[in-house]
Amino acid sequence: MDQRISPASALHGSITLPGDKSISHRYAMIAAIAEGDTRISNYSTGADCHSTLRCVEGLGIEIDGQGTEFIIHGRGLDGLRAPMSDLDAGNSGSTIRMLSGMLAAQSFRSRIGGDESLSRRPMQRILKPLREMGARIEARHGKFPPLEIEGARLHPIHYRLEVPSAQVKTCVLFAGLFTEGATSVIEPVRSRDHTEIALSEFGAEITRQGAIITLQGRPKLRGRDLAVPADLSSAAFFLAAALLVPGSRLSIRGVGLNPTRSALLDFLRGMGARIQIPELESRHGELAGEILVEHSELNGGVIANGLTAALIDELPVLAVLGAASEQGLTIKDALELRIKESDRIHTVIENLRRMGAAVEELPDGMIIPGRQKFRAATFDSFGDHRIAMAFAIAALRADGRSIIHGAEAASISFPEFWDTLARLTPE
Ligand code: S3P
Repeated sequence: MDQRISPASALHGSITLPGDKSISHRYAMIAAIAEGDTRISNYSTGADCHSTLRCVEGLGIEIDGQGTEFIIHGRGLDGLRAPMSDLDAGNSGSTIRMLSGMLAAQSFRSRIGGDESLSRRPMQRILKPLREMGARIEARHGKFPPLEIEGARLHPIHYRLEVPSAQVKTCVLFAGLFTEGATSVIEPVRSRDHTEIALSEFGAEITRQGAIITLQGRPKLRGRDLAVPADLSSAAFFLAAALLVPGSRLSIRGVGLNPTRSALLDFLRGMGARIQIPELESRHGELAGEILVEHSELNGGVIANGLTAALIDELPVLAVLGAASEQGLTIKDALELRIKESDRIHTVIENLRRMGAAVEELPDGMIIPGRQKFRAATFDSFGDHRIAMAFAIAALRADGRSIIHGAEAASISFPEFWDTLARLTPE
């Protein structure tokens, strides 16, 4: 699908966004192995989170509901059933990596794969710890989906993460749920902690001491009523839109502001962004609140080391902001970007160049000079939701009408994106 985007005048108003993708995945998976019903409201409308629901159903779990409200009829730690067919994780790295932790510990075989993009994403990062736990699991060419999982009795491990990845951490912790004893994960770079919070909400014993997270195996997990906050990574696109377009002022309500995710707001404020959070509340261990943002002249910045990991999903839209900023933006230590839904170093640079922006490619990042003019262009999503949305935002500042080719990719995390954008930018 081609989407046409015209340059925008000021964006005003108040918006709500779909539920957080990371939290939705975790609630659905944990609910499946909890005892009794879990009611989830504001569940993400993104296709990825629906891939998770379909996989969970494939494992014999009944799910009622529609839209954003679901009831998951959990069957307890030993309640999953052998799937009748292959599990399809679609485009979702979170689904395949996190669910594999549970699948590896079952008494049945399963096979889980996904679309063409997912089939190119590396899985060694979960194969290694799972095999150390006793899992019998094979991947295509030793590293890619689909995964053939035999199911085995696992034992706890103490595992030091080699890549900063909340998906791998979650995979190990999910496998640890089925073992006798304590599993611990050491994370040298702190990653999002929704799994730790969610497991604790469902009744597991899980603690953190410094960089070490320890989970007691075979907990009694109980179904719960849960509400998912809006997704900060989706909010990032509208924050960027308001910051870029002169005269804008937006309110985004009920956004998840977990401190392991909100580095984005601190970084933007450091660049000079006028962002306020009038109030914060805690729901089920997760912080949420309203974000107020106003158009701001941004200076430049450098994103490196742990900050790169903390901003990993927001880097495409930050690159767009960087090109409009006073001193430009340098992104380093971002090799992980090359193995996301697309090679995001390549796809961001390609689209920046299409709009006439200068950018220097680094093996693990890019250097984007500031104060650049944005030319109208035909952008490509390269099948990647965050690329489609990042360059739709860039198009708001262009000197004419742009086209986003492959715009349907946005529905992976944010199906309402185009309608929300159209509402805020009437022609
Ligand atoms: C996610 C973790 C991150 C992030 C992804 C969602 C999660 O990936 O990029 O969009 O929900 O745990 P990694 O774990 O690969 O860093």
